[in-house]
Amino acid sequence: MNLTNTLELPCGARLKNRIVKAAMSEGIADRHDHATPGHSQLYEKWARGGASLLITGNVMVDRRYLERPGNVVLEDESGMLALQAWSAAGTLGQTHLWMQISHPGRQCPKLVSKEPLAPSAVQLNLLGNFAKPRAMTEEDIEDVIKRFGKSASLAQQAGFTGVQINAAHGYLISQFLSPQVNRREDKWGGSLANRARLLLCVVARIRHEVGADFPIAVKLNAADFRRGGFDLEDSAQCALWLADAGIDLLEISGGSFEHLRLLGDRGDPNTAEDPHVAEGTVKAGYFTDYALEIAQALKGAGKAMPLLVTGGFRSRATIEFVLAQGGIDLVGLARPFCASPDLAHKLLRGEDIPADLHGPLQAGGALHRRLMRFKAYRVLHVQGEVAWHARQLSKLAQGRDSSGTSSMALALVKHMSADMAHAMRRKPPVSGMAN
Ligand SMILES: Cc1cc2nc3c(=O)[nH]c(=O)nc-3n(C[C@H](O)[C@H](O)[C@H](O)COP(=O)(O)O)c2cc1C
Repeated sequence: MNLTNTLELPCGARLKNRIVKAAMSEGIADRHDHATPGHSQLYEKWARGGASLLITGNVMVDRRYLERPGNVVLEDESGMLALQAWSAAGTLGQTHLWMQISHPGRQCPKLVSKEPLAPSAVQLNLLGNFAKPRAMTEEDIEDVIKRFGKSASLAQQAGFTGVQINAAHGYLISQFLSPQVNRREDKWGGSLANRARLLLCVVARIRHEVGADFPIAVKLNAADFRRGGFDLEDSAQCALWLADAGIDLLEISGGSFEHLRLLGDRGDPNTAEDPHVAEGTVKAGYFTDYALEIAQALKGAGKAMPLLVTGGFRSRATIEFVLAQGGIDLVGLARPFCASPDLAHKLLRGEDIPADLHGPLQAGGALHRRLMRFKAYRVLHVQGEVAWHARQLSKLAQGRDSSGTSSMALALVKHMSADMAHAMRRKPPVSGMAN
């Protein structure tokens, strides 16, 4: 299979090639949590850049709970004009633009909520940035399901050509899937079937809202990479259920805020606290081996569902290798698109990914390796990586050149102050159930 091949999805939509711009939280909403001209500017660049599918960063279903200040929230029709401008820009040149819809659960910073929601009251322990969550009631859960449906239907109305449910990276749906965070004893916890109930209810609700011919994707962890957490076997079983539920695309990633495997962080390299570190069989990208096992499970059960794998692709050869394996249909890249919005065109023309797009995380050296023993250092290091790329995104959104480099430390300070300023500018949250 070639990078330039088209792909027809189960709902009938067609993607023009095999390269996807994966979700990256933009953090540039206005004080009403609406989209801005910056979103249109950014996505027009990416749409002109050749990828077949652009997936937005987290758009939140409830303005009381954000992944970070600056998230767009989609609860009602306010802000529709800006969303329409965003979708028009992001769908230029037959590009698909799918909105990633999300609820952070306990991964909602204190800056946003002093009492976030979670399946159980299990706090995220990360440098004191996250408050103890409240265990959700049955009513909260029903409200969240409705909210996902409502946001998806509004995204469709605004001209987005699909939606992706964020069930990965330790956000709310991923928390329900994880036996470490989900300690419930009712129908939403316990067995995997119970833990996956929220995900499957959200899929069903969205399908009901958007109809049969609108693409629905899910981003799912291959594993949480925590002992006793959601593992590859669970993930493969969820993939089978999602195929039965009729989704159009499953994206495989992994990890959470606690364990940023999604960005290539493999825990303390000195003690291998991560049970998967020792395995190290990855041939290309962070999750290819896992995605291939999931593809195998689907094939073994006689089920077909397009698969996308994202994370760590930094050369054309590895992308081609993955597509040649059979079973994985699309490859997603995120960070390299920050400094090179037209990266997909380069790849489609046969060029490679330039080495200067590999990001600052490559930092090595003996001191760095020693400091990686300390969790606080590791967290700051990876947060610096996220901040550095988030800064590149906001430069692109302002129409500036994103290629200028700044240090990760400086990017982290600027990123944190921007989030703080955003939190202060926001209009006070309004609570209430979605209709
Ligand atoms: C700045 C930044 C923001 C991100 N925001 C999101 C997000 O909103 N939703 C999501 O599912 N993943 C998010 N990710 C993770 C990426 O989608 C992707 O899984 C990860 O960066 C690995 O791919 P890469 O190695 O090509 O960058 C983000 C990553 C970065 C660097």
